[in-house]
This record gives sequence, structure tokens and C-alpha cells, in this order.
Amino acid sequence: MRYFIDSADLSKVEYVLERFPCDGVTTNPAILARETDDPAKALREIRDLIGDTRTLFAQVTASDYDGMIREAEILKSNLGPAFSVKIPATAEGLRAMTKLAKEGYSVTATAIYSVQQVLLCAKAGADYVAPYVTHIDNLCVDSAEIVGNMAKLLAYHAPRTQVLAASFRVPEQVNRAILAGAGAVTIRPEMFDMLIESTGTDTEIEGFEKTWKEKFGKNGISDFFK
Ligand code: E4P
Repeated sequence: MRYFIDSADLSKVEYVLERFPCDGVTTNPAILARETDDPAKALREIRDLIGDTRTLFAQVTASDYDGMIREAEILKSNLGPAFSVKIPATAEGLRAMTKLAKEGYSVTATAIYSVQQVLLCAKAGADYVAPYVTHIDNLCVDSAEIVGNMAKLLAYHAPRTQVLAASFRVPEQVNRAILAGAGAVTIRPEMFDMLIESTGTDTEIEGFEKTWKEKFGKNGISDFFK
């Protein structure tokens, strides 16, 4: 199971990274436009923050084959080694994915809505396919069912390609995508705390503290080992 942070906000990425076991950072053109005036600087800073082994994802902004290839080369040479280039799941995108995958790039097919897009992108060599869960739910289509179909068909036809489910708004969407078979998820920084927090856990901790203090007062457990 892989967890990625969907953000280009350095301080938010740092907050999550220090607390949660994450595998890297995903970005897209809208995230970069919202969160920075200098995308190259922001991406380089994220790379420095996450180190060389966690994966950094950045998306091409060109929509034609030549432009996508040129941008992929520039992104990889500046942001490698653990870098995955995001290419939209279009006909031009498929052509670019095929070339880039053959050249050894890690490719993420993005902005995905359908099972056929997934199968074609996997066949073109994509390592990850990224369905946009909330955007699919907004069409009154059950995104978990779609993600489940994607995962099932990939396991059968293209097991090296993973579903990287994206665009979540509530934890239940994350649960359902993972239960349906997504091997990776990318989540906004603000949502990570929601995934670990539980009022039940808080109540248990309060109970431990109360019972402990009643007997041992201010002493912590390490005080007994002095
Ligand atoms: C995935 O990599 C995308 O960056 C992201 O999840 C897009 O979805 P959103 O804009 O709805 O959050």
C-alpha cells in the first residue's frame, strides 16, 4: 500500500512527512498554479524535502505528443531519480506514454475516469493509473465500483500497473478505494490527520492517563527504570 501527499505546499508536505509513513508527493498543474509562483523552485524544494528515494510526481502541461516528450525530459532531468511523469489519459498521451515507458521513465496516466482508459494506458506502459474519485462520484457514478473494476482488470491483464486513486474529499472515499483494490492513494495534506484520528482512541488514552495518575501521580513509566 502506498500513500502519497497531493500538494506543492512545502510546509504542509513537511508536516505530513514528519508524522505519516508516506511514499512521496504528487502534484498537478492546478496544484502548482494554486500553491506557488515558481513551479520549478517548488518542485526542487519538494525533492530536497522528500529525499532521493520517495517518488515525486509532476505533470506535463503540453497536450501534444512532442510537447509532452520535451517536458517529460526536462522534468526528469531536473527532478529525478525517483520521479514519475504524469501524462493525461488522451490519445496523444498514450503515444507519449508508450515512448517514455520504452525509454525507462516511470509514467503515471492521470485524470482517469474509465476502465478502458486504464487498460489502454497500462498497455502503453503506465506504472500508475490515477482515477479521480471525487470527480467520478460527482457524476453520480460509484467511484469505488469503478476503481474495483480497474484493479480487477489490471490484476488480470497488466499486473505491473497499479491504481493510484486520487482526488479525495472524505476518508470514506479513501477506505472504499483501497477496499476496492487501489494499491496507492494520493491525499491532500489536510486529510491525513482525519485518517488517524478517532474519538474512541482519544477516550482510551484519557482512560489510561487517569488510571495511571491515580496510582503513580506525576511519574512517567521511565521514572521507574531510574
Ligand atoms: C492527483 O494526482 C491529482 O493531483 C488530484 O488528486 C486531483 O484531484 P482534485 O483536484 O480533485 O483534488
